[in-house]
Amino acid sequence: MSTPETILQNSSELDQPPIERASTIPSDWYYDQEVFLFEKECIFANNWQYVCHTAQLQTPGDIVHTEIAGNPILLLKTNDGEINAFYNVCKHRGGPLAIKKGTTTVLQCQYHGWTYLTDGSLRGVPDWNLVELFDEKDFGLEKVTIAEWDGLIFAHINSPKQELKSVLAKIDERIAPVQLSKLQFYREDVYEVNCNWKVYIDNYLEGYHIPIVHPELANLLDYKEYRTEPYPMYSLQYSPFKGEDTIYNSTDGEAFYYFVYPNIMLNILPGRLQMNAVIPVSPTSCKVIFSYFYNDVKAMEKSGVIKSDLGYSDTIQQEDIEICEAVQRGLQSKAYHKGRFSVKRELGVYHFQSLLKESYRSAMQEND
Ligand code: FES
Ligand SMILES: [Fe+2]
Repeated sequence: MSTPETILQNSSELDQPPIERASTIPSDWYYDQEVFLFEKECIFANNWQYVCHTAQLQTPGDIVHTEIAGNPILLLKTNDGEINAFYNVCKHRGGPLAIKKGTTTVLQCQYHGWTYLTDGSLRGVPDWNLVELFDEKDFGLEKVTIAEWDGLIFAHINSPKQELKSVLAKIDERIAPVQLSKLQFYREDVYEVNCNWKVYIDNYLEGYHIPIVHPELANLLDYKEYRTEPYPMYSLQYSPFKGEDTIYNSTDGEAFYYFVYPNIMLNILPGRLQMNAVIPVSPTSCKVIFSYFYNDVKAMEKSGVIKSDLGYSDTIQQEDIEICEAVQRGLQSKAYHKGRFSVKRELGVYHFQSLLKESYRSAMQEND
């Protein structure tokens, strides 16, 4: 893995003084192509990545496609009730796979039709009788490591240095009695955003912008009580609601907004979960996948809760997209290099940028 010149030239950029004295990361980390490629390896290939909820892989033959650090991945439910994960890459010439029509037990390449069993072994190779020195055993699909935590499935394309359950340690105790594994999947929405993935995450991690960017939300939140709690691999934002007629305070219970390093958010409200995964697309663009889960889809659809939840979340999202895209332009301007943090309001951003620098630093040490 090569280290981007921009970081190497000035490795003091990786120092992280206490928040009271710290600067934000340099602006070129938000648009430099080399930094982008470096992050793919040292962050996205080196951490657990959220893929889907077990509710999305219920029936044998169900498939979920995703991408990790640019690698196409597929997860599927087998007839034995197992969930298997592979690179979605055929060993012939790299084609993509799908479940063969009319079967739940065979994956077929969409290019020349090689077939694989759902354990990844190669089964059928059309028109291959003159080929020599070929052993089917050497051409099985490449497996990917997965782990499940409270119904959420994550994948890791390198050797995990930390178990998933230790990354997410204690979240389940904190959110109890909510059990995420019991939720039903509703739908997934994808937003394309013209900003670096870190701009979107920085923005999620502070409530500082709420009074200006989301005035309606500001009226619902008890902003004085807004808190951020940093943990080793995640942070929690918490804010009680005030006022009366919102969908969020119409049920008892608390709201938790977890950010799990490097790129997912678990927004847990009574009876519902909204997962956001921020996927880098280019140095200056990302896509944000919103997945919605509810404890009773039918009843909550009927009562209108889901409709208002989705509408509300889309409004906030549009406001965030607009500001993130403007910030990206600001970061790329000649006028900006680095900023500072509000100690009171931007602890989450500081915590994220500290973990980011830690990832850069350990990748650079491995390189040495
Ligand atoms: S690339 Fe898959 S069959 Fe050719
Ligand atoms: Fe926001």
